Amino acid sequence: MKKKLIAGNWKMNGNTASNAALLQALVSASASLSGGASGGASGGASWACRAAVCVPAVYLAQARALVQGTALELGAQDVSAHAAGAYTGEVSAEMLQDLGCRLVIVGHSERRQYHGETDALVAAKAQKALAAGITPIVCVGETLAEHEAGATEDVVKRQLAAVIHTNGHCISEIVVAYEPVWAIGTGKTASPEMAQQVHAVLRAQLRAATPNADRVHILYGGSMNAANAAQLLSQPDVDGGLVGGASLKAPDFLSIIAAAG
Ligand code: PGA
Repeated sequence: MKKKLIAGNWKMNGNTASNAALLQALVSASASLSGGASGGASGGASWACRAAVCVPAVYLAQARALVQGTALELGAQDVSAHAAGAYTGEVSAEMLQDLGCRLVIVGHSERRQYHGETDALVAAKAQKALAAGITPIVCVGETLAEHEAGATEDVVKRQLAAVIHTNGHCISEIVVAYEPVWAIGTGKTASPEMAQQVHAVLRAQLRAATPNADRVHILYGGSMNAANAAQLLSQPDVDGGLVGGASLKAPDFLSIIAAAG
């Protein structure tokens, strides 16, 4: 059985001092479980699940220095759809790879909403990440209006279809995150049953595209916290979480990691 994946999305939060404190708390919790700062014979594996932090690009180098050789994986929050060149302000997949990223979030609803990212652009970003050996965490999810109109399944299927269309040959290498937009940062979560229903739809769509669909992690995101994580994570197609607000506090993030064990 695949291990669950808990990924923290720090969004535009943090500074060098708070990042160091948060990462040190996470790393030392993991090291204490594995019986020492060296992380034991397995080189740092300590949690029963995979755990990652997706930090702002400017802090990737700082975070890398603190998490290298530990159980905590490093991720970014966005990647350019271009390889290199005259794209002021953008960060390429190769740069992320150079900085030790294993994961990158693409198509977060905040980028779709505030930066006009289309399904096609998100698919191109996922393609660049995959080509650099980085796992894209492809976010899909419906707005409140779409939810109320009963369009949830159509929306998430359309968003995932674009990524499958562009990346069909290696689609089993992606991670999908179902994040209902109305649940992000609002304190409202999808019920575990509601999340499972959408995850099952996404799984079926992946199955139609690859024989390895069961390997794909489908994460739930949207106000996941220490109190609701265990129930959400107990659903058969919920393979982990993409955690915003609660990933900024070490005890909360560690509780979610424990709930995924
Ligand atoms: P939240 O954010 O946990 O703060 O709702 C989740 C996300 O946007 O990835």
